[in-house]
Amino acid sequence: MTETQQRVRAWEDRYRQGKTAWDRGAVSPVLSRWLDDGLVPPGRVLVPGCGHGHEVEALVRAGCQVTAVDIAPTPVLRLMARLADAGLHANVVQADLLAWTPAEPFEAIYEQTCLCALDPADWPAYAQRLAGWLVPGGHLLALFMQTGTEGGPPYHCALPAMRDLFDERDWLWPPSHPFEIPHPNGLTELACVLTRR
Ligand SMILES: C[S@@+](CC[C@H](N)C(=O)[O-])C[C@H]1O[C@@H](n2cnc3c(N)ncnc32)[C@H](O)[C@@H]1O
Repeated sequence: MTETQQRVRAWEDRYRQGKTAWDRGAVSPVLSRWLDDGLVPPGRVLVPGCGHGHEVEALVRAGCQVTAVDIAPTPVLRLMARLADAGLHANVVQADLLAWTPAEPFEAIYEQTCLCALDPADWPAYAQRLAGWLVPGGHLLALFMQTGTEGGPPYHCALPAMRDLFDERDWLWPPSHPFEIPHPNGLTELACVLTRR
C-alpha cells in the first residue's frame, strides 16, 4: 500500500466510524468574523482538509470561488451532496494534499486544522506547498491546533514552531498575537492571518 493509500484508509475509517470530534457541525465563528472584517478576498479560495465543509458552504455563500480538498471520500461525497441540495457550487476534490497540484494559485487559503492532521515530518513539504499555492500578497487564514501534548493527530502546533515553519522571509505575520478559539474537541485553536510575500 502506498503512503497516500494508507492516509486515505486512516481518515476514511475515522469518518465511517463517526470519530470526528473536530467537527463543529456549523461554520467556525472565526470564519464569520474574518468574513465580516473583509479579510477573505472575493476570489479563489482553497480549503485544504475541508472535512464536512461547513466553512466551504459559508465561503461560497460569501461569493468566493472555492476549491475544497480532502483525502477521505466520505466527507467529500457528503459535501458535494449538501452543496448540490443547496444549489451552490464549489470545486470539491478527493486528493492527498501532499501529492495534489491545483491548476492555478489562490488569493486565500482557509487552513482550519489540516496541518495538525498531518505527520509533523510532512509539515515542511506541506508549508512549502501552501506557499506555492498562494499568489503574492495572498492570505493564509490559519487555525493552529493547541493540544499541549506529544503525539497525534491532532499534533500540537506550537506558535514558535509555526513561526519557523511559516518563515518571515516568505510570510508577513500580523503584529498582534493570534487569538484563541475554543475547539469542539475541548482543545483550542490559535487564529491568525499570514500574508504571502
Ligand atoms: C482535523 S480534521 C479538520 C476538518 C475540517 N477542516 C474541520 O475543521 O472540520 C482534518 C481533515 O484533514 C483531512 N486530511 C488529513 N490528511 C490529509 C491529506 N494528506 N490530504 C488531504 N486531506 C487530509 C482529513 O480527512 C480531515 O477531514
